Formats: sequence, structure tokens, C-alpha cells
Amino acid sequence: MRDMHIAVLTSGGDAPGMNAAIRTIAVAGIARGHKVTGIRRGYQGLLEGDTTEITLPGIVGITHQGGTILGSSRSAEFPTPEGQARARARLAAMGADALIVIGGNGSLTGAHLLARERPCTIVGLPASIDNDIGCSGLSIGVDSAVNTIVEACDRISDTARAHRRAFIVEVMGRRCGFLAMRAGLAAEADAILYGESGLGEDELVARLREVLRRAFGPDGYKQRALIVKSEGVSVPAARLAKRLADHLIDDAPGVDIRETVLGHVVRGGNPTALDRVIAQRVGFAAVVGCERGAHDVMMAWEPPGGAGAETADPSVRAVPIAEVLAETERLLDGTSPVIRKRMELLSQVEHLLVA
Ligand code: F6P
Repeated sequence: MRDMHIAVLTSGGDAPGMNAAIRTIAVAGIARGHKVTGIRRGYQGLLEGDTTEITLPGIVGITHQGGTILGSSRSAEFPTPEGQARARARLAAMGADALIVIGGNGSLTGAHLLARERPCTIVGLPASIDNDIGCSGLSIGVDSAVNTIVEACDRISDTARAHRRAFIVEVMGRRCGFLAMRAGLAAEADAILYGESGLGEDELVARLREVLRRAFGPDGYKQRALIVKSEGVSVPAARLAKRLADHLIDDAPGVDIRETVLGHVVRGGNPTALDRVIAQRVGFAAVVGCERGAHDVMMAWEPPGGAGAETADPSVRAVPIAEVLAETERLLDGTSPVIRKRMELLSQVEHLLVA
């Protein structure tokens, strides 16, 4: 199908690489004869009719920029029946043939809701630093976030070594421990804490005391200990640090402990080359998918188990959003084989962390 009107929006937590996806959709869309309109501030902007036509001069050089040039939001009104009706009316008034939604689980849930009455073709792209989107090997933004965490941990390790200290570094990820796991290994952490383990506070403290005794005790040879904690572990980092500090007086006299919560630092910054490539390839697949009438699907990057249908790109598969959301539930309640696999892989190397 030629001469489509494709609308695109970014929604929920921004993720590095969103701009690379926007640019690809616009460049590919315009080159293939389509009109491309950006909707500002996610679903809230759609409800308010806050749109802008995307032209090639307007998107030069955005691939390397973090955040999203379209802005984002978490709209409370959009999922309501009134919000859905208004969104459909806005899309009709725009004359949109297709809507591409770039975002995480909340955004994809919104896309699926909207797709029910098919106001136009609706395609989703997985973008969230948390890597908690079902059927998505890596979502846009994950690799950049991992690299940012590793760099922060390396810096913290420098100062920690200088003072022979232990550090707890808390990272984002909502209920998903993926960022902590992957970055913790890469940063040579001594321990990685993630919510999926289900460990309670006392058990965590007992295990961490052992880690710190081994690192700094009479047979220890460490100048620093690094504990990477996912925000999915509900015990606050400061509270863990305080409890461990009370024990350090006996366990490793002279050793201090500090905590750092990286927070939104992890979400900003330039996307890595991998995130740009993922964004470009799923973005391109989305444009082609719209032309072919793909509806209520997400263009997934290397989905575990090869879910969905093939596209022209061997790394990108078109997965029904309903399937994505069902698998997301399993990721979050811990029943997905993907979670079991992540934990198994980590446990195989966990005993090496304290070496
Ligand atoms: O989903 C992305 C994310 O950055 C999570 O890791 C984090 O828990 C949450 O968003 C923070 O949301 P907000 O920016 O609204 O505080």
C-alpha cells in the first residue's frame, strides 16, 4: 500500500534509542511515499490532538540523542472508555492509516486496547530500559542502560578502592532484575540482588554479611566490594547499608559501607550502537508491517523461542500484542521460562562473583 498517513508516538518511560526509531520510521516512511506525523507527549498528546508533521530536515542527527524528541507521558485518561473514544476520534480526524506506538508494557497495553476497534493499523515497538516486555529478547534502551550502569559502577569502584569500602548501587528495572544481573556481572560485582529471587530482608543481610566477610576478612584480599541491587528488591538500599554497617564493626573492622541510587541517570544518555541498530531495524519492520496491514502486533527483536511470524529481517519477528502481554505477565510473576533461565544462568556464575 502506498501513500499512507503514518502517525508515531513515544509513551511511558523514555528509553535511549527511541529517537533512532522515530527517525527510521520517518526516513523509511517518507522514502516510500508516506506522510509521517509525530504525536507529542504520548497518548496524552493524542487525546489533545498535539501533533506535528515530521519532515526530513527536522530529524537530522537525532539518532545519537537520548530521550525522545516527541516527548512522552503516562496518561491516566487514555485507558478509560472515554479516553479510547477520544483517541479513536483524533486518529480519524487526522486521517491516520496507521499508528506506531514506541514504548513499554503500559504503552503496548494501551495499543492493544485501542486496536480492538481498529481505528487504523496499530503496530508496537518494544522500548523500555527494564527488559520486562514479553517476547522481546532486548528492548530498545536496555543495552544503553546496562552500559550506563557499568560505567557508574566502574567509577564507584575507583573511589571505593581508594577507601577500602563496600558500596550498594541500586539500579532501575521496576520489577525486573535484568539490568542488575547483566550490569552486575560486567562490573565485576561481588553480589547481585534481584526481586525474582524472593529472598527476604534477613536472608539478604545474612548472605551479604558472608560476602563482605570474605571480601574484607582476615583471608580477604579485596579493596572494594560492590553490591548491585535492583529496585525490584523492596528493601531500601539505605536500610540494607545501615544493617550491614552495624555488622561491619565486627565482621570487617575499619571497612565502611555506602549506598548510591542511580535512579534516572540510568535512563538518559546517548544510545549505544546496539540500541540504535535494534531501533532502526524494528522501526523499519514497523513501516513495512503497516504497509502490509499488520495489526495489533509488536515488532520484536530476537524474541526468545522464536515467537511470532517472520519478517524480512531475520532478527525481527511480528508478535501479536496479546501474546506479548500474556508473556509479560509471566515475566513479572516469575512463571516464564525466560525468568527461570536468567536465574539459572546467573546461579551458574554467582559463586564466582566473590572470587
Ligand atoms: O519503566 C522504566 C522506568 O525507568 C523504571 O525502571 C522505573 O521504575 C520507572 O520507569 C520510573 O518511572 P518515573 O520516571 O515515572 O519515575
